[in-house]
Amino acid sequence: MPKRNGLVVARTRAEARDWRRQLQAQGKRIAFVPTMGALHTGHLSLVQIGREKADVVAASIFVNPTQFAAHEDLGTYPRAEDSDLQKLAEAGCTFCYCPSPSEMYPAGDSTRVTVKDLSHILEGEVRPHFFEGVASVVSRLFLHVGPDVAVFGEKDFQQLLVIRRMVQDLGFPIEIVGGATTRETDGLAMSSRNAYLNAEERARAAAVYRVMTETAAKVETGERISAAAEAAQQALLGAGFASVDYVAVRRGDTLAPFGGDTAPVGVTGRLLIAARMGKTRLIDNMAFVRK
Ligand code: PAJ
Repeated sequence: MPKRNGLVVARTRAEARDWRRQLQAQGKRIAFVPTMGALHTGHLSLVQIGREKADVVAASIFVNPTQFAAHEDLGTYPRAEDSDLQKLAEAGCTFCYCPSPSEMYPAGDSTRVTVKDLSHILEGEVRPHFFEGVASVVSRLFLHVGPDVAVFGEKDFQQLLVIRRMVQDLGFPIEIVGGATTRETDGLAMSSRNAYLNAEERARAAAVYRVMTETAAKVETGERISAAAEAAQQALLGAGFASVDYVAVRRGDTLAPFGGDTAPVGVTGRLLIAARMGKTRLIDNMAFVRK
């Protein structure tokens, strides 16, 4: 298999399996960081967590068609394999799985993995196809790479919970670890899609973090959730967002509503926001606890 700066690149499931067998024969524990490429410091922070959790870190780069709807950005999603492989090697990753679409979805493919309930709220309401695509590709990546640990970002908090549910339900022998969200200095969560923002939109986008921290502080002091969420929505629109898909205040473990209009004391909650700046859809979230 070709090597690049000490990084082995596998393009087929057979190559990935060969690599894993060799590593397992050496008794190495493997951490895995699945990505869609266009890597930034946030992705690399997950590689760092992988290094702390295992002997070797594997990544994958695959822009997964099944998690994009026909009207979404599959065709224009940023692709930068050469520089991505370089960054992964520098971050201490030693293996990257870069399969083709036909390797992941062979001719005649007709199997999908659906995580019910959790996949159909919040992100799943706006993007009904999304989590089935994610669960389908991540289950395949897990089978092809066969890691001991897999690291996912809290940036996509609902995705992290969907993966945890899937792993528990299907019995994958893989420990799932969540990594904190890496942010720009103004608080904007790093994202491959931030590249779509023009300079003016980029400056305005910082409002998500500002509004999110203000709203979490309100809810933590017992303010009514409905009023805080409405104020957040107005603040985002006032800051130049074209529309707000949701501002949601939920239980941190299940993303179910609290069942009342104030946060219960001592229960970890999650505030989640999705809003559109120009044509770019931004999502973010943070934990809170009312004291
Ligand atoms: P992608 O958007 O490339 O993200 C890959 C991983 O990086 C995910 O676990 C995501 O939560 C994490 N990540 C993204 N931005 C981050 C940030 N600012 N700080 C910390 N972690 C961050 O998420 C996907 O790809 C795909 O859905 C995938 C799981 C690979 C399945 O196709």
